[in-house]
Amino acid sequence: MHSFLYRANAVLTFSVMVLAALCAMASFSDYLNVPSPNAYLKVVNINWLQKQPNGNDEVSLKLDISADLQSLFTWNTKQVFVFVAAEYATSQNALNQVSLWDGIIPSREHAKFTIQTNNKYRFIDQGSNLRGKDFNLTLHWHVMPKTGKMFVDKIVITGYRLPETYI
Ligand SMILES: *[C@@H]1O[C@H](CO)[C@@H](O)[C@H](O)[C@H]1NC(C)=O
Repeated sequence: MHSFLYRANAVLTFSVMVLAALCAMASFSDYLNVPSPNAYLKVVNINWLQKQPNGNDEVSLKLDISADLQSLFTWNTKQVFVFVAAEYATSQNALNQVSLWDGIIPSREHAKFTIQTNNKYRFIDQGSNLRGKDFNLTLHWHVMPKTGKMFVDKIVITGYRLPETYI
């Protein structure tokens, strides 16, 4: 009897240790995942560039957004929030960041996509600085885990320019 209880206890202890080790390895494996996302952003068309009655410039544009974010997904990923922003400098602000589009990617299967869209959010400058303005497009992502810390990063694509005149 003594020997039976002793053995049962030993088996139980061993199982708990194995389980703990598996959990530790699983969370650690999330840190070992080195993602290699890529993105392609293109301005297909400048629909218009206008000065609003209040004096602020606004531009409407059509974008091609193509991304492969599948490598961001691990066993521990709940979803990925993604957004495209225009970034540019003015004399008032070293960095102006305007969100143009966003989306939520629920799973790895949806993480490779190509869409063509007009800007979902308005691209308005605080002033009349947009004519002939150089800007970058950035694709940002927030990886929301089931457990642990959120992880954010971005891809910057440089070298875009707005028209010299209102159109
Ligand atoms: C675009 O990004 C590059 C590299 O990050 C940076 O050096 C440059 O100043 C940016 N250009 C604009 C217009 O923000």
